[in-house]
Amino acid sequence: MVTGTCFAETGNSVICVDIDKEKISKLNDGKITIYEPGLEKLFLRNLRENRLLFTTSLEQGIKDAEIIFLALPTPPGEDGSADLKYVLGVAEDLGKILTDYKVIVDKSTVPVGTAEKVHAAIAKNFKGEFDVVSNPEFLREGVAVDDFMKPDRVVIGTSSERAKKVMSELYAPFVRQGNPVIFMDERSAELTKYAANSFLATKISFMNEIARICEKVGANVDMVRRGVGSDERIGKRFLFPGIGYGGSCFPKDVQALIKSAKEVDYDFEILNAVTKVNDDQKMHLYPAIKSFFKDDIKGKHFALWGLAFKPNTDDIREAPALFMIDALLADGATVCAFDPEAMNNVKGVVGDKIAYSESRYEALEGADALIIATEWNEFRTPDLSRIANTLKNKAIFDGRNLFELPTMQKLGFHYISVGREPITSSL
Ligand SMILES: NC(=O)c1ccc[n+]([C@@H]2O[C@H](COP(=O)([O-])OP(=O)(O)OC[C@H]3O[C@@H](n4cnc5c(N)ncnc54)[C@H](O)[C@@H]3O)[C@@H](O)[C@H]2O)c1
Repeated sequence: MVTGTCFAETGNSVICVDIDKEKISKLNDGKITIYEPGLEKLFLRNLRENRLLFTTSLEQGIKDAEIIFLALPTPPGEDGSADLKYVLGVAEDLGKILTDYKVIVDKSTVPVGTAEKVHAAIAKNFKGEFDVVSNPEFLREGVAVDDFMKPDRVVIGTSSERAKKVMSELYAPFVRQGNPVIFMDERSAELTKYAANSFLATKISFMNEIARICEKVGANVDMVRRGVGSDERIGKRFLFPGIGYGGSCFPKDVQALIKSAKEVDYDFEILNAVTKVNDDQKMHLYPAIKSFFKDDIKGKHFALWGLAFKPNTDDIREAPALFMIDALLADGATVCAFDPEAMNNVKGVVGDKIAYSESRYEALEGADALIIATEWNEFRTPDLSRIANTLKNKAIFDGRNLFELPTMQKLGFHYISVGREPITSSL
C-alpha cells in the first residue's frame, strides 16, 4: 500500500495487485485497509487522479508495467527461515505472462540468493529479456509515508546497467535532498536489510538487558539511556527499554538471518541472545503483576491500554499485548482493552475472550489494575487522579515507562515500570 501509493504520488501510474478480493474491492471503493498516518490522504488523491488502481488480476496489473514490485509476504516457515512460496509462486506466474522486457523488483524482505531464485522461477517459462533487482524497504510502520517519501537511503542491488537506469529515474524524486541511492550487487542488498533490522533489534534487546541490571542495582534506565544515547556513535534512537519488540519484521527477520547463517554453517550467537532476551522481555512485568496480587490473578480484572505492536499503527503482528492477554487469560483473569486503532484487528484474533472499550478511561471501570503495553501519545498525559479514582487498586504496570516516578509516588500509585525503581504499595 505504502510503496504503491507513494510511487503514484510522484506521478507514476501504479496498479496494485492482490489475491485478497475483499481488500481489492474495499480499496476500489476508496476505503483504506490499513491505518498509517498520512496514507489515506495520498491514497484518495491518487485514486481520484486515476494514478492508483487496484486489481486481483496479475495479467491486467503487469500488462503495461515497466517495473513490477514484489511486495509479498515472507513469513517465517516452520524452521524460522523466510518462506518464499509467495514470492516464488508469483515469479513463476509472471514467467507465464511476460511478453517484453520488465524490471522485476524484490521489495519483500528476502534472504540472500532470492533474486537468483526469482530469476530462475521467471526464466522457467519466459525466455525473453528481464532483470531482477533487490530493493529492500526500510520504512518504519507508524511513519511509513514519511520514511518512504524521504528515505535515509535507497538500496538497490543489481548488476544490470539497464535496470540501474530505470531504478535511478524512479527514485530520483525521493532523494532530492541528497540522501544516497546506494547501488550494490543483489546479494549485498538482500543482506543489508536483514543486517539493518537485526542490528536495531539487537539495540532494543541490549537496552532491555541494561534495564534488568538497572532494576537489580537501583539505577534508572531512562538516565542511562540519555547518558549513552548522546554519544553520536551510539545514537538516541532504539534505546528505549520496554516489554519487547514485536511487529511483522523484527521477530521474523532476526529468525530468518539466524537460519540463513546456519545454512552456511555459522552460528549467529548474538542474534540467538537477542531473540531469547526479547522472548523473556515480553513477560518481564508479569511476575510483578502476580506478586502484587499475591499470586492470585484468578478472577481479577485488568484494564489494558495499547494493543498495536507500536504506536501509530493498527498492526498487531507479534504485539507484546497479545502475549500479556494470553498469560492473563490462562491465569483466569479478565481483560478490558483499549487501543486507538488496533481493536478491530485484535477482535479478529482474540474475539470476545476479552472486552473492548471505546475510550481509555472506560477501560478502567471495575479494573483491579492498569497495564500499559503500547506508548500511544494519548496515554502519555492522562488524568492520573481520574485513573487513581477509577481503578479498584491504584496499581499501574507500565511496559513503556510513560510516567515520571516522583509524580506516581506523590499520587500514591503502586507503579511498576521497566528498568526503574519500583514504587510499591500493598493491596
Ligand atoms: N510492514 C513493514 O513495515 C515492512 C517494512 C519493510 C519490509 N517489509 C516486507 O515487505 C513484505 C510485505 O510486508 P507487508 O507488511 O506489506 O505484508 P502484508 O501481509 O501486509 O501484505 C502482503 C499482501 O500480499 C498479498 N498476497 C499474498 N499472496 C499474493 C499473491 N500470490 N498475489 C498477490 N498478492 C498476494 C496478501 O493478500 C497481502 O495483502 C514482507 O516481505 C515484509 O518483510 C515490510
